[in-house]
Amino acid sequence: MSKKADMGLIGLAVMGENLALNMERNGYTVAVFNRSVEKVDAFVAGRGAGKKFIGCHSLQELAENLERPRRVMLMIKAGAAVDQMIGKLLEVLEEGDIIIDGGNSFFQDTIRRTKELAQKGIRYIGTGVSGGEEGALKGPSIMPGGNPEAWPYVKPIFQAIAAKVVGDFPCCQWVGDNGAGHYVKMVHNGIEYGDMQMICEAYWLLKNVLGLTAPELHQVFTQWNQGELNSYLVEITSEIFAKTDPDTGKPVTDIILDVAGQKGTGKWTSQGALDLGAPAPTVAEAVFARCLSAIKEERTAAAKVIHDDSTTPYQGDRQAFIDAVRQALYASKICSYAQGFQLLRLAAKEYNWDLHYGEIALLWRGGCIIRATFLEKIHAAFQKNPALANLLVDDFFGQAVASCAKAWRQVVAQAVLSGVPVPAFSSALAYYDGYRSACLPANLLQAQRDYFGAHTYERTDRPRGQFFHTEWTEDCGKTVSGTYNA
Ligand code: 6PG
Repeated sequence: MSKKADMGLIGLAVMGENLALNMERNGYTVAVFNRSVEKVDAFVAGRGAGKKFIGCHSLQELAENLERPRRVMLMIKAGAAVDQMIGKLLEVLEEGDIIIDGGNSFFQDTIRRTKELAQKGIRYIGTGVSGGEEGALKGPSIMPGGNPEAWPYVKPIFQAIAAKVVGDFPCCQWVGDNGAGHYVKMVHNGIEYGDMQMICEAYWLLKNVLGLTAPELHQVFTQWNQGELNSYLVEITSEIFAKTDPDTGKPVTDIILDVAGQKGTGKWTSQGALDLGAPAPTVAEAVFARCLSAIKEERTAAAKVIHDDSTTPYQGDRQAFIDAVRQALYASKICSYAQGFQLLRLAAKEYNWDLHYGEIALLWRGGCIIRATFLEKIHAAFQKNPALANLLVDDFFGQAVASCAKAWRQVVAQAVLSGVPVPAFSSALAYYDGYRSACLPANLLQAQRDYFGAHTYERTDRPRGQFFHTEWTEDCGKTVSGTYNA
């Protein structure tokens, strides 16, 4: 009898195909299935030709061709399609088998599915997979969570196909119970939104304040990629500026419509931050910037009627400004990651996950979209102090931000003077200034709440947890509201 497959993979779109090829290259036999079955034959006869693939035309056939316990990975669209496919798989799988969802699923769905399937004897993993097409093929970052009983059966395959960093560390480690893997992937994506928006702001400033051309921008980003900003996103940005449109001869960036798409993971990160009361304004600003870009027609109409002659052009040294923008980008990036890790800390508490932040930094060091050299520094910061409250109070990052702060302020100030929108840079700066403030104007806010709704307040000269009310006007009574916080 011929060898059965080590892994079943359902969904032969770009990511699914490439993950299957990656597993096969690493010595595993993969049984593949796709809802439109023509794709199965096309793949096995095409990119999969002569390789250890078993093309299956039904889920029954897939189940029959898998070693036990069966491991079935779904690379299909997140949402209802995953529940439907799980429903069908339950008809052909047996107790002890393993289902792995590798899509960008919402973590609450993964929490629910892990629980429901455990009750049916099926071990479930919800895993983030990052790195796009190329990453899936050559080595993605994989963030698995779910039922820990499933992990030993999947670990060797996933760690073999994952990217490797700092020696031989696989960018695939068990993240935590139920929805932890998908949560960490969601925050990865939120940080990705922030990184992309901040790079766009740097570009927009250099183009609009200094008038840099695409070839000049290519050079600037190439140079930045050699320093502390070294990262996949800065690298591809430099390559993007070198690309010319064959039809018009113009830089490709000049012919792409300025309307951003989004599939929702940045929005989820922001909603997740609001749910937990985590201050993560930079990701939220990045999401809103995409929303603002999307109302192109409205913006175009507004640009015709709203004329503003209050701006002040930059008159300083060009190279000094380029360098200041680099520092603004670096400092903003540190704040954005500080927010992301702060969110993870609150999520770990809320959902009872034992997250290892240093390890998460290394998971993101290679293979994924936000891979960057500086993640090693984040790893080091959490190694030094696993209970670190915020990256900004780590020595290395504290000093890094402090040394950029002057240039960062000048850049945000100049952006405001020039009328160039920099929501991520400025919100990151406001976060930094807010986080390092022992006092904020929330005393007045509490007074306002107490004035109009008797919501009470705590006093600076009394222990925390005691609440007071002032009779602000003669008409108000002595009844106070409850003091709960949402
Ligand atoms: C990754 C990416 C990927 C994501 C795309 C598109 O880690 O490989 O995060 O999962 O789907 O980046 O996301 P948006 O369409 O929301 O920009």
